[in-house]
Amino acid sequence: MLNRTIDIYSPLTNEVIGNVKAMSKEEVDESIKKSREALTEWRAKSTADRMEYLYRASEILLERKEELADLIVKEVGKDRKSAYSEVERTSELIHFTADTAKNLEGRSIPTETVLGGSKNKFAIIQREPIGVILAISPFNYPVNLAASKIAPALVGGNTVIFKPATQGSLSGIMLAEVFQAAGLPDGVLNVVTGKGSEIGDYVVTHPGINFINFTGSTKVGQHIAKEAKMIPLLMELGGKDAAIVLEDADLELAATQIVAGAFSYSGQRCTAIKRVIALDKIAEELQEKINKKVASLKVGNPQYTEGSIDVVPLIDDKSADYVEGLITEAKEKGAKLLCGGTREGNLIYPTVLDYVTADMRIAWEEPFGPVLPIIHVKSEDEAVELANQSEYGLQSAVFTNNIHKAFEIASKLEVGTVQINNKTERGPDHLPFLGIKNSGIGVQGISYSIEAMTRIKSTVINV
Ligand code: NAP
Ligand code: G3H
Repeated sequence: MLNRTIDIYSPLTNEVIGNVKAMSKEEVDESIKKSREALTEWRAKSTADRMEYLYRASEILLERKEELADLIVKEVGKDRKSAYSEVERTSELIHFTADTAKNLEGRSIPTETVLGGSKNKFAIIQREPIGVILAISPFNYPVNLAASKIAPALVGGNTVIFKPATQGSLSGIMLAEVFQAAGLPDGVLNVVTGKGSEIGDYVVTHPGINFINFTGSTKVGQHIAKEAKMIPLLMELGGKDAAIVLEDADLELAATQIVAGAFSYSGQRCTAIKRVIALDKIAEELQEKINKKVASLKVGNPQYTEGSIDVVPLIDDKSADYVEGLITEAKEKGAKLLCGGTREGNLIYPTVLDYVTADMRIAWEEPFGPVLPIIHVKSEDEAVELANQSEYGLQSAVFTNNIHKAFEIASKLEVGTVQINNKTERGPDHLPFLGIKNSGIGVQGISYSIEAMTRIKSTVINV
């Protein structure tokens, strides 16, 4: 078999910034074999020992902040400030994952308390690792969404096969180097590189894999779920987060949060606000405020500045084509273009579309780009109904000054998390993070992820 490599191009310059191996099936087999061999010793270590590796990795990551942030900027086109913040946040996440493992407890269950139970019997409940975890990460947080799988898997006593997004794999490999530099024994963390479309199915159906922890698009997630059959899954998928703005909302606050939520990193966040559902009475005023704030967003190529840039070139031309197609279709069907709608290469200018209606694709599809549709509704019931009609169920935001109303609407929304008077967002990273419907399976968040990637073992003592 020929040794093939994949060139990684920067979305900012279109220049090659490095390359990774397109691994063959034999190389994947070898990596998974190493993970299985390393499992016995790794799971036998005490949790305290495993925590020490994580504390060291957290420190080394910070020491390599400049270098890693530089790579994130080049590889996935983030602005430098966001790249720094991704590295710092990840260092904290790894540290806190180790802290959390400290508090994981087993318990014992007496059986004499139930009818027919026995005084001479009780069960000891402990957590044990699941085995070899396959961690598949997306391009948009190449370090954070990799570490949020790797760190809890490792501290729980599992070994890991890490498959980064191809665009993002240079950053992912540097993260893996950080874990290696922390002294992880050989084979405990192995990186598999290659295009998902070529090697993905082979890895997810490999008999050596015991659990798949995936973040990415709903389309790929559904495909993996079909292929994986009985393998347990944890999945963070796409979203169409709605910001519902009620008549009594603080419109200045709502507009600020909506613009930050919709446009940071060009909307290439699962939790980006991807539609506004506004009550008729305040929709015009809200729209004007949003429009004004969009005008002051910083747009451009982040490699030329140390500061923050909100709207950066999209990850590739194909993504920009897709977003452009959604904008064109909405305009053709009568949406009013308030701003943006133009494109230079893969940079799409921040776009707001008003009077979006249910027959337009932009009302339902996830653009993963800097375009915000505003939908007018006549009542709160209509707002909730429209929000729930989505195939997705990640998060929603509700803007209102009436706390009772906020809770009432939150209780009706079919999503994993509702944000009151704030943009939709992940974190802090120890909070539960989950999508329902086509937005995911299971719950992430530090303690939840450790739980998901360990299982209960019950040992019954009969005296
Ligand atoms: P993607 O195209 O679905 O890719 C995600 C990962 O899956 C990549 O590592 C990709 O590898 C791999 N992959 C592709 N086909 C595969 C297969 N057949 N088997 C196994 N792995 C395969 O997603 P993306 O474009 O990187 O990320 C954007 C999407 O992720 C958006 O939909 C966004 O909403 C979602 N996302 C969700 C969350 C959340 O927490 N809910 C967080 C971040 C992103 P290659 O790169 O080699 O193709
Ligand atoms: O893209 C998905 C990330 O999990 C979103 O995280 O809300 O902190 O940007 P964030």
